[in-house]
Amino acid sequence: MSILIKCGTLVTASETFIADILIDREKIIQIGQNLQIENAEVVDATGKFITPGGVDPHTHFDLPMFGTVSSDDHYTGHKAAAFGGTTTVIDFVPLPPPCPPHLKSKWGGIKGGVDAWHKKAEKAAIDYSFHMNLTRLDEEIAAEIPSLRAMGITTLKVFTAYNDRLRLSDGDIFCALRIAKENGMLVMLHAENGDMIETLVTEALVTGHLSPEWHAKTRPAWGAVEATLRACALAAQADAPIYIVHMNAAGEVDMLRYVRQRGVKAMGETCPQYLFFTEDHLRRPDGAKWVCSPPVRTVADNARLWEGLADGTIQTIGTDHCPFFFDGTKPIIYEGKPVAIPGKELGADDFTKIPNGLPGVGDRLPVLWSTGVRSGKMTAEQFVALTSTNPAKIFGLYPRKGALLPGSDADIVIWDPEKKVKYGVDMSHQRTDYNLYEGWELTGYPDKVFLRGRLIVDEEKWLGKAGGGQFLHRQADATVL
Ligand code: URP
Ligand code: ZN
Ligand code: ZN
Repeated sequence: MSILIKCGTLVTASETFIADILIDREKIIQIGQNLQIENAEVVDATGKFITPGGVDPHTHFDLPMFGTVSSDDHYTGHKAAAFGGTTTVIDFVPLPPPCPPHLKSKWGGIKGGVDAWHKKAEKAAIDYSFHMNLTRLDEEIAAEIPSLRAMGITTLKVFTAYNDRLRLSDGDIFCALRIAKENGMLVMLHAENGDMIETLVTEALVTGHLSPEWHAKTRPAWGAVEATLRACALAAQADAPIYIVHMNAAGEVDMLRYVRQRGVKAMGETCPQYLFFTEDHLRRPDGAKWVCSPPVRTVADNARLWEGLADGTIQTIGTDHCPFFFDGTKPIIYEGKPVAIPGKELGADDFTKIPNGLPGVGDRLPVLWSTGVRSGKMTAEQFVALTSTNPAKIFGLYPRKGALLPGSDADIVIWDPEKKVKYGVDMSHQRTDYNLYEGWELTGYPDKVFLRGRLIVDEEKWLGKAGGGQFLHRQADATVL
């Protein structure tokens, strides 16, 4: 049966207007005034806002790390995303370590990594795609990169930090940019200075500085700034596009602005944690809750990132959702069952052992609606552009995702703009024992969320299911914004 959503206030990346939306099976069929459709199920959206489902371009579900694993998997994380109005996520596939020749065809290389991630994602509850982490570049891997296109994966993440683990040399990053350009792919950059970090961490450990604030002190903003400019320079020379993930420092915004003004095809993403939190949070007794890489910084950095969003220097807001329990020795109840996963307590005596990462996939849209749109820091259209339309365009999903258009997937969020909530861990559905926005008063919240025409969230009710999400085969040569 078709669904007719009546009289909602539609918000797209470019305009806001009142209209009806007709959905048939998985697609939006028509948008117009006073639509009358016999036998359609009618949803009255008078006084409600309607946005396209959020697209989160940066998640880490079920990611083994620091002797544990991120605590949301491809079902629990998807469910949390959906409650927060996000219907598409793009997760990062780790590149498996070099493996013995007899195991290579099954477990090794890019294909081995992607196959393993497809297996994990069989329980997907919303639509999803993958980015590939390029953490080694030898002849074999270089030859395998073009095959990613046929797998529907058109993005490669490279790192200038995590020496001897994930980092690529500048030469290898340059090479990756060239291969990406030849294949219509996009390189994504984790920008920090690995050598600076190694030196500062060694000094901190030797001098007994072990508390969480030293996580930030040993990963300085200057390293992020120079790595951003360095990689953009490599991209400029390769004439390839580049996307800077999780931008966190004011100077990174300046660098991005500088290179964009000179015609470099560079784009940027920030995440809510870098807009709201600072090193002061790391100094709290529960400071480990805010440990992520790159670290949260200063009020001045928060402000410059907001400016970068407002003036169009930064194109997207993702989450870098990579949650851990604050105290993984104490179970929480998730879907009626006790769950405990080792988390931040692993680094109670040493900041280098705190699992890096934060929850956020479900928080992103409700928090930004209140603090961004309602507080006047961004327009409703900018909100949609930054959290849905732009990521869909940059990552080859538009107009299937990120749009309210006839022919687009009927991924639709109906917001109650007046709903007031006291936000926190009890509301967020993320599978962890804390929330960064505990006690925040939010106004405006998703009421109903549709995934390809199916109602998966109805206020507090979860109607989605494991296996209900689809893998999205992305297009190469996507838009550079
Ligand atoms: O602390 C974080 N962000 N963990 C996830 C890995 C990354 O670099 O994005
Ligand atoms: Zn990163
Ligand atoms: Zn990440």
